[in-house]
Amino acid sequence: MSERLMLRDLSTSEGAAAFRAAMRLLVGNVSVITAGAGRDRSGLVVISMVSLSADPPKVIACVNRSSSTWPLIERFGHFGVSSLGPQHQQVAERFSGFGGIKGADRYEGADWITLATGASLLEDAVAVFDCRLDEMIDRGSHSIVIGSVAAVGTRDSGGALTYWRGGYRALAA
Ligand SMILES: Cc1cc2nc3c(=O)[nH]c(=O)nc-3n(C[C@H](O)[C@H](O)[C@H](O)COP(=O)(O)O)c2cc1C
Repeated sequence: MSERLMLRDLSTSEGAAAFRAAMRLLVGNVSVITAGAGRDRSGLVVISMVSLSADPPKVIACVNRSSSTWPLIERFGHFGVSSLGPQHQQVAERFSGFGGIKGADRYEGADWITLATGASLLEDAVAVFDCRLDEMIDRGSHSIVIGSVAAVGTRDSGGALTYWRGGYRALAA
């Protein structure tokens, strides 16, 4: 028998917590957004990357304006998206700032390539999207970052890394 749908009014002071609790129940695909170059690099793990348009190819991701990556995306005008596989949980943890790892140190322990824009892309990712920055649209705490995809790379084997109910879950191929 299925549980009854729990209804919550978001106008109360617990509104944000109820919203987060609802979002926890959605399965997210885990990607890393990378920006900057050399030692002047950072990145963050996201589940908010999706396709915006296929023709022309564009993606969007929602990036917190307080993250260390946001100013680098704005300054360099390009960013990379690397979609992670089940073997990349440690990469995901580094890029979420786990253990206080910051900036270019997040890139250690993995191999990175560049394609058209100069953004770093994870060499053994499931799929990579090399993007030129189109626009950043500020909404609430985040910006909707729109990228024009200049190049992609794909690996049509293996599984995926997802995030669900507050934990990483490997999705088998
Ligand atoms: C699974 C997962 C998904 C996340 N998705 C997003 C996201 O879509 N957008 C975002 O701004 N932060 C997201 N975060 C949080 C950032 O990864 C984290 O706050 C960031 O790396 C810290 O930024 P810093 O560079 O300022 O330390 C997510 C974190 C986790 C663990």
